[in-house]
Amino acid sequence: MNEIAIRIGSVEFANPIMVASGTFGYAEEFDGLVDFREIGAVVTKTVTLEPRPGNAPPRIYETAAGMLNSIGLPNVGVKDFIDQKMPFLRTLQSRIVVNVAGVTAKDYVAVVACLDSVPGIDAFELNYSCPNVKQGGMSFSSNAQIAEAVTASVRKETKKPLIAKLTPNVTSISDIGRAVEQGGADALSAINTLVGMAVDVRTRKPRLSTITGGLSGPAIKPIALAKVYELCKSVSIPVVAIGGIMNLHDALEFFMVGAIAVQVGTANFMNPGCAAEITRDLRCYCQQQDLNLSDLIGSLEVDG
Ligand code: FUM
Repeated sequence: MNEIAIRIGSVEFANPIMVASGTFGYAEEFDGLVDFREIGAVVTKTVTLEPRPGNAPPRIYETAAGMLNSIGLPNVGVKDFIDQKMPFLRTLQSRIVVNVAGVTAKDYVAVVACLDSVPGIDAFELNYSCPNVKQGGMSFSSNAQIAEAVTASVRKETKKPLIAKLTPNVTSISDIGRAVEQGGADALSAINTLVGMAVDVRTRKPRLSTITGGLSGPAIKPIALAKVYELCKSVSIPVVAIGGIMNLHDALEFFMVGAIAVQVGTANFMNPGCAAEITRDLRCYCQQQDLNLSDLIGSLEVDG
């Protein structure tokens, strides 16, 4: 059998294809639609200490090659997440990665502390990168010192893998990547959405209630590839790639630039089975080429 399992920190993932936070709810919404055994990890919608209603509508707008969103991290809060969302999540054969955010550094620490002993959680993704909230959000990964300090504080609360999710909306993503590595992150995930905007020329109003939002989908894939390539050269911890992945070909590009795994995001809105299909296609590809995933990771050939 050709090997496609990966490891992040102490946790093995049966395959490297995950579903991205905010594009797959708490998985229950997809029950009966997808084969969870083919999804390496479900990364949950962000969980915060207190419940959040999210931003006012309109908060989604479809663009030529992607999607603008300004959802604003709506969620039930950590207590109800444990009581209402975990019972289903822990029945799945996928790994469960809980995406965590906060307004303050203390919020991240408190949420991870609440969740650490909850059965069924395999890892945490620290969301330092949401562009759609007034407080917190991407400010945590816009400053290397803050990103390192928050990561170091959370590190004290858990031995589970910590994956720091970074924003591309910075001058140097590798400076931030190195800082969170120093703070004790086990992996990085990148990229979150790029700040974008659309205007309705009839009404002369912005398409989103918050004026700007986060752009995702195929439009951002070349940017994501460049950022993931840069990160893979800058840090020693694994990088999980996110950004416009629609099919096996896209995933292979990210593996070749050095990503250990990929997250499928916007594609889930068009085809909920996309991640599982990519896993099956990856398995077939590795079998046909007689390769293990490790032969692909970082296999980019650069002349000169
Ligand atoms: O607005 C949102 O809920 C998006 C979250 C994110 O980009 O992390």
